[in-house]
Amino acid sequence: MADFSLQIRNWYRLNSRELPWRKTKDPYKIWLSEIILQQTKVDQGLAYYDRFISSFPDLRMLAEANEQDILNLWQGLGYYSRARNLYFAANQIVNDFNGVFPDNYNDILKLKGVGEYTAAAISSFAFGEARGVVDGNVYRVLSRVFDIDDPIDLSRGQKRFSALANELISKTSPAEHNQAIMELGAMICKPSRPKCEACPVNNMCLAIANKTINERPVKSKKLKIQDLFFHFIVVSDDNGLILEKRHDGIWKNMFQFPLLETKSMELPSQLKKIYIEQEYRTKHNLSHRRIHATFYKMSALPKLFERRELIKIPHGELEKYPLPRLIDRYLEDVDL
Ligand code: ADE
Repeated sequence: MADFSLQIRNWYRLNSRELPWRKTKDPYKIWLSEIILQQTKVDQGLAYYDRFISSFPDLRMLAEANEQDILNLWQGLGYYSRARNLYFAANQIVNDFNGVFPDNYNDILKLKGVGEYTAAAISSFAFGEARGVVDGNVYRVLSRVFDIDDPIDLSRGQKRFSALANELISKTSPAEHNQAIMELGAMICKPSRPKCEACPVNNMCLAIANKTINERPVKSKKLKIQDLFFHFIVVSDDNGLILEKRHDGIWKNMFQFPLLETKSMELPSQLKKIYIEQEYRTKHNLSHRRIHATFYKMSALPKLFERRELIKIPHGELEKYPLPRLIDRYLEDVDL
């Protein structure tokens, strides 16, 4: 077992990518990087990380910003609850921890938006706590090296992987160990076509021996995708365009065109008698949802939207408002 940690750390020292959050022990910067990297690839996350650190060099500046500015910087990254939670947690640290970043796993876990993976990552990288991280990369590495067929989406399997990660972690170099196992999952032990010939633990990998590499990790159920049908009303003139603020769901506190949601792609009955200047259709895939969106350009807003909370935004001020990627892409693609 000790060999596993030694071999991946030796490999990591020679082969890892240089990433800015790996050069610091500042828990604020590490936290920020881990939240960005939760559902985002390193290549895309890097630019956002740099922008966040320039705009909010320390925790207090983030806590004193306003949520809209943070959502604005987050624009394009998706999973916007991460940004709202970041802001909430910065204020939790100011109020509940006297502005000092909590220095241990259990306290870090109290922060909004921080789960077991992120708490283990921050407590090991910043404070040297020997907590094994378990993320998608780690599930892949461990299920293959130890040829474990417990499903990773059921709590029994998750407990087993977490216990194994804690057993394997180096007690003297926990930060390096955690970085190494994630780097191995990202660079070598990839979901498809893993580079087993270059793997530092191929000598002990049971999935190689048992020829089960492509069957690991195991999941119990197939991801169910929900179809949603969004109909957006686009009203734009020389003075600007009409948007509404969302108060719930994944795009809470972001801005979109006035929306009608229905059960199909068909033109909603409420719009049938209204002249539509232009119709634009697109699909937008999220992790659990597929949005079928149609944008209807009209010269005036139909009466049924009268009671909604709408704002008219001059074209030049659009960049001040956080927009979901779906809306932003429409604005890039269509000449209004
Ligand atoms: N993904 C999540 N955390 C990471 C880290 N610290 N380095 C590289 N990729 C990561």
